Amino acid sequence: MAVQEIGEWERISAHSHITGLGLDENGRARKIAAGMVGQEEAREAAGLVVRMIKSGKFAGNAILLAGPPGSGKTALAMAIAKELGADVPFVPIAGSEIYSAEVKKTEFLTQAMRKAIGVKIREMRRVYEGKVEEIEIQWTQHPYNPFQKIPSSCVLKLATKDEKKKLRMDADFAMRVVQQGIETGDVIQIDVDGYRIAKLGVAEGSEREYDVSTSRTVPIPEGPVMKEKEFVYTLTLHDIDMMNSRHGGDIFSLFFGGERKEIDEEVRRKVDEKVRRMVSEGIAELIPGVLFIDESSMLDIETYAFLNRAMEQDLSPIIIFATNRGITRVRGTDLKSPHGMPLDLLDRLLVITTRKYSGDEIREIIRIRAAKERMEVDDEALELLVKIGEERSLRYALQLLAPAWEMAKADRYVVKREHVERAYNLFSDVKRSVEYLQRMEKDMLYD
Ligand SMILES: Nc1ncnc2c1ncn2[C@@H]1O[C@H](COP(=O)(O)OP(=O)(O)O)[C@@H](O)[C@H]1O
Ligand SMILES: [Mg+2]
Repeated sequence: MAVQEIGEWERISAHSHITGLGLDENGRARKIAAGMVGQEEAREAAGLVVRMIKSGKFAGNAILLAGPPGSGKTALAMAIAKELGADVPFVPIAGSEIYSAEVKKTEFLTQAMRKAIGVKIREMRRVYEGKVEEIEIQWTQHPYNPFQKIPSSCVLKLATKDEKKKLRMDADFAMRVVQQGIETGDVIQIDVDGYRIAKLGVAEGSEREYDVSTSRTVPIPEGPVMKEKEFVYTLTLHDIDMMNSRHGGDIFSLFFGGERKEIDEEVRRKVDEKVRRMVSEGIAELIPGVLFIDESSMLDIETYAFLNRAMEQDLSPIIIFATNRGITRVRGTDLKSPHGMPLDLLDRLLVITTRKYSGDEIREIIRIRAAKERMEVDDEALELLVKIGEERSLRYALQLLAPAWEMAKADRYVVKREHVERAYNLFSDVKRSVEYLQRMEKDMLYD
């Protein structure tokens, strides 16, 4: 399910080497596995969380990943997502995103939470399936454009090995037939209730079977043209909300791509009701996923109160927070508290701490990243990067890989010490850039 949006790619790509938690059968961390290095206790704890989530024993709880910058908190969250599997929604957001101008904070969070709940739907649907033997499309004048004609209806003759049937279809379906370029010889499937036509391939034995431009040949279906078929698909609650609010959009949604920014509470109430009914009828299954809130210290008291309430409801995802703050002020209040979180929320958190990496671990992580990006790094360059990782930060050392590699391209495609040195001098880490500006400000005072 596509839950990733623009902007998320960058955040995720730095962790593309991570394919899981790298645990053995007994839930123990292998030193280096699945792209993960060290941080054994945190990985083992995360493994238990995955097991609890999978067995449905984690509702109403949340996780806090606490540790210094660059200690693998986001990496760990990504690994948890990988372990949960593709069917389980994983929605990463950054705390600061709730302040985006487009929608209210609570609306943004509600949408994020509903993206993190999957609904697996099993449906028997009436479909027509067969090889297209004839197509006849009727055209009519476009209502506004005198130079254009549009399909008004269409007649298809579909054949299985055992039956032939003529279907008369309305303008909507006729348009789909034209848009999808359906031709005689194609095997198609028409889902009447879902208003959907799918081209399954070119029929075996038709003249077009050897047409190089077509990708796939499929056998001509057997049995009747109309049949009941089971479909299984996973949507999120947010997908269903969107599907149900699209037609209620105002005039602006016509111009702005139809994605309404706010969803009516009434729509959500109806969707919940409908989903609950489907679950009790055995047609649907709820798959609670994970909402990962990075930089949770950016959240404010209002947001925390909202989340706390939301977590008590039965349709709630699992929430994983990450922070690098110790005792700090809760935003929107004058109170200080651990990790800047209100105490009632802290009460229901399981906390996993991550620690700083040793030089050896940093070396392995840099090696894995370089290999993943197909960069060759010689020993001297690697040792310098390890030193930078220890003295500055792991993230900064990893960031220097890309510019160093750019220079290495002109130098036989091997990153050498001088490339790293030059990258280090050209690109500052945050500590240095801040020191620099503070020095500048002082100089200006004495001007
Ligand atoms: N244990 C680990 N094994 C492999 N790569 C790691 C590990 N910890 C961190 N990384 C990588 O190091 C970089 C910084 O880690 P990150 O998860 O962003 O730290 P944090 O979120 O704690 O600030 C990322 O590219 C991440 O994938
Ligand atoms: Mg992070």
